[in-house]
Amino acid sequence: MGNCFIKPVANVSSTSLFGSNISQSKPKQDSSPPTQRSSSQNSVSNVIERSISSSLKSFTFSELKEATKNFRRENLIGEGGFGFVYKGWIDENTLAPTKPGTGIVVAIKKLKPESFQGHKEWLAEVNYLGQVHHENLVKLIGYCLEGKNRLLVYEFMQKGSLENHLFRKGVQPIPWIMRINIATAVARGLAYLHSLDSNIIFRDLKASNVLLDSDFNAKISDFGLARDGPTGDNTHVSTRIIGTHGYAAPEYVATGHLTPRSDVYSFGVVLLELLTGRRVVEEEKEGVPEETLVDWARPFLGDSRRILRIMDTKLGGQYSRKGAQAAAALALQCLNADPKYRPQMVNVLAALEALQSSNSITRTPKRSTESSSASSKHSSNHSQKSFSSAEKL
Ligand SMILES: Nc1ncnc2c1ncn2[C@@H]1O[C@H](COP(=O)(O)OP(=O)(O)OP(=O)(O)O)[C@@H](O)[C@H]1O
Ligand SMILES: [Mg+2]
Repeated sequence: MGNCFIKPVANVSSTSLFGSNISQSKPKQDSSPPTQRSSSQNSVSNVIERSISSSLKSFTFSELKEATKNFRRENLIGEGGFGFVYKGWIDENTLAPTKPGTGIVVAIKKLKPESFQGHKEWLAEVNYLGQVHHENLVKLIGYCLEGKNRLLVYEFMQKGSLENHLFRKGVQPIPWIMRINIATAVARGLAYLHSLDSNIIFRDLKASNVLLDSDFNAKISDFGLARDGPTGDNTHVSTRIIGTHGYAAPEYVATGHLTPRSDVYSFGVVLLELLTGRRVVEEEKEGVPEETLVDWARPFLGDSRRILRIMDTKLGGQYSRKGAQAAAALALQCLNADPKYRPQMVNVLAALEALQSSNSITRTPKRSTESSSASSKHSSNHSQKSFSSAEKL
């Protein structure tokens, strides 16, 4: 889930906020998801609960305690800015907690009490995922709102995050075809959000927010930073700047103007990570100016021959030259500094579907050894250390 503070462990994201209410041509005022606007009198929880989609199960804290065996350490599966994520077990029909190993497995995210922004993000997640459903969005089963406790109960994604598969040491590399399938699935999820009347902008697309099920089907997770996009004559929404350093679109970082094309830029970064197997931002070294993956890769992306030099060496050359060139050209379009020239998500999806169905992705390039020749600060051998480098804005 998007967060706004420094996380204490690996996979750290740090966020700083910059208030920005810069005027623009046709701004839409920064608006919060519906329920955020209504909570003030009497019982805040009651007001919030009444507006939450009835398709979500409201869990008690003790039910989730039971489902996770009192949030036992051995059931801990991850940690993000929002809090810890635990494995839990519930009955498939009644959704009541069951014994470990029986019923269905769920992922239970528990807000850290000190979480700055946590309640707002929790609410955005509940509001959006209570309303939008798609095969490429992680399913939210329910929530818990009890006193200060804020929890979220999701379908369990067995293979964890794309980030772990791309960058964690000792993990089996994801084959080329699977990478294209993952990119296509993410594009489909974003295209769906952008196609809705409310024109939802996800705002925090990154490898750690792409989760994989047991068959490596990809789904987007974490709607904490999502918000409604511009509608009617509005060109953008104007909002404070929040997201993850390296993934956020440059014009959004500069102005606070958010459009669906901001998501297209972030998608381009994830596509680049899939191609190169390298993190968006390296761990900072003293005295060395930061160079993002995008800055480093840009000159290679537009050159159909040089692109092979930056492909992930962990692919062992097992990808097609044509497929790599097409994917790199698409990434370059998504990463255009001017949002006007970025394709819409629906066009990105069409390009990836064409790539998926073409035979070109199954062939191996002749010059597979080329992929190891690009020298850069963006070495792919830094995964453990730079695990903490994807910094939030
Ligand atoms: N539904 C899920 N199924 C399985 N594992 C999950 C699920 N949701 C989260 N996880 C695991 O928990 C980890 C932490 O997730 P979380 O969304 O809290 O943080 P993050 O996305 O890594 O970082 P950030 O807080 O900056 O967005 C993930 O990397 C993933 O391994
Ligand atoms: Mg996440």
